Amino acid sequence: MKAAIRRRYGSPKQIKIEEVDTRVPTAQEVVIRVHATTVNRTDCANLSAKPFIMRFILGLFKPRKIILGTDFAGEVITIGTEVSSFKVGDKVFGFVDTGGESQAEYVTTAIENVFPIPANCDYTPAAASLEGAHYAYSFVHKVNLKSGQHILIIGATGGIGSALLQFVKQYDVKITATCNTKNIELIRSLGAHKIIDYTQEDFTDSQDTYDFVFDTVGKSTFGACKPVLTENGMYISSELGPYSQNIFYPLLTSMAAKKVIFPIPFNTQKTIPYISHHLATGKFKPVIDRTYALEDITKAYEYVMKGQKMGNVVIHI
Ligand SMILES: NC(=O)c1ccc[n+]([C@@H]2O[C@H](COP(=O)([O-])OP(=O)(O)OC[C@H]3O[C@@H](n4cnc5c(N)ncnc54)[C@H](OP(=O)(O)O)[C@@H]3O)[C@@H](O)[C@H]2O)c1
Repeated sequence: MKAAIRRRYGSPKQIKIEEVDTRVPTAQEVVIRVHATTVNRTDCANLSAKPFIMRFILGLFKPRKIILGTDFAGEVITIGTEVSSFKVGDKVFGFVDTGGESQAEYVTTAIENVFPIPANCDYTPAAASLEGAHYAYSFVHKVNLKSGQHILIIGATGGIGSALLQFVKQYDVKITATCNTKNIELIRSLGAHKIIDYTQEDFTDSQDTYDFVFDTVGKSTFGACKPVLTENGMYISSELGPYSQNIFYPLLTSMAAKKVIFPIPFNTQKTIPYISHHLATGKFKPVIDRTYALEDITKAYEYVMKGQKMGNVVIHI
């Protein structure tokens, strides 16, 4: 099969499309013909091994898995001898943050990584519903959202932010979201009640206060957001912060009124059924920025690494 390969950590220039063997499934695995995958920020971290901590998961000196890719949407073509929950021809999708080896024509993976695609969803939106929405789930489910609260989403245009906005929209809350001038209409269409154009206005200058500040792009700090949090407000960021302080703040603020929570991701056994339900009921529609062919995957990585994508970048295979 054709696959996007890298043998050491580095930039998108490392990536080559090569012919490799498709792995034979064990008893509890399936082989999936990949129709769509994405290039997302987790893929970029896996490619570059940045932050350094990624090396403890992926391989200290070089990557243990040479095929790139974390998510897939495709069709089951072979099942292991003990697999009864899937059959050949099933439309499935899944996400493996430590490396799913899915930027390839076929992926061989354990059945716990595989979920049925809702009947109303094609392969392209299915692939675009995984990585960002998986992390967005962690924001919503680390807190107890209540009717009437006011939420600020920083960076509502990203893979995480655009999913989070649609998930938060399911609650009876007021949503303010920040984005770039060019994305105001998109964010309005996803359901934000108030929009702050970050190129024109600093949200910390506003008189508004928020029960939750969800920074989905890691562009703020707890210190800067503290004045705009309500008395018992909470701050969550998708990034560690300039001094990795967001790891320690949850403990340091545990007795304080204004708290920091770190969104350690939940297992996909929790997140993907939730995503499937929202896709099936039409409450979540992934934002797709661009699509590329597998042969152009280097360009896709270069684009995603700029940190400016809207929603998701899909690779058609
Ligand atoms: N903790 C984890 O395990 C984990 C996993 C995945 C991702 N992440 C991190 O989470 C962050 C978000 O990931 P993502 O996939 O959602 O990002 P993304 O899809 O690359 O999106 C970033 C978005 O943020 C917007 N943006 C840039 N600067 C902004 C600012 N100052 N204020 C508001 N919006 C701004 C960009 O649009 P414009 O530039 O056009 O405004 C773009 O739409 C990244 O920093 C990533 O490293 C963490």
